[in-house]
Amino acid sequence: MVEISTSILSVKSGEEADVFLRLENAKTDYYHIDVMDGKFVENNTYSKMLEYSSYIKRISNLPMDVHLMVEDVKQAVDDFLQIEPNIITFHYEACKDKSEVMEMINYIKSNNCKVAISVKPNTKVEEIYEFLPYIHMVLIMTVEPGKGGQTLLTDMVDKIATLKKYISENNLEIDIEADGGVNLKTAPAVKEAGANILVAGSAILKATDFRVIIDELKK
Ligand code: DX5
Ligand code: ZN
Repeated sequence: MVEISTSILSVKSGEEADVFLRLENAKTDYYHIDVMDGKFVENNTYSKMLEYSSYIKRISNLPMDVHLMVEDVKQAVDDFLQIEPNIITFHYEACKDKSEVMEMINYIKSNNCKVAISVKPNTKVEEIYEFLPYIHMVLIMTVEPGKGGQTLLTDMVDKIATLKKYISENNLEIDIEADGGVNLKTAPAVKEAGANILVAGSAILKATDFRVIIDELKK
């Protein structure tokens, strides 16, 4: 069964209480918290995502799926551990070398939080194979990180299939999350390739009835 993680990136200030509650009623499985520092990517959503996720922590029991698009991973981990997320994802490309990747994995896990690695479209998925035994999920960026509402890069579907094949062949228990441009049109191929968690922002938030879209994406 596929799970849905709704990106709250484009939720407008003032609307958050209503939207977060409607998303909970629409049975999103997670809130996807897109943290951007204005350095790793151009946009800066840092304080807004801290504010939104602190609010979600107070009003909802649903788990939060924090996606760090930041250069200073450790600082962001420290900041977002405060909102007790279900999982923290950091970018492979934000680490200076493979030992720092391992260091971040251990740091997040030592703080009793699940951990995931994300790879940008141009990063080969083979780069992170050595870390798979130590993490809970891989976030495959199906758009260039930095903003919502983009079109899914279709060659990322093959990347998901390659990862899924490697995970199956090595009997690993890891979730594959697809993130960016996922909608009713692109979701079937992404699921078919092996993603079992779908991030969707605009496809859900622009709908009048969140439940209809979420149910459809889960099928
Ligand atoms: C992009 C973010 C994605 C994005 C998803 O950098 O990581 O989570 O907000 O939004 P949509 O579904 O609109 O592409
Ligand atoms: Zn994201």
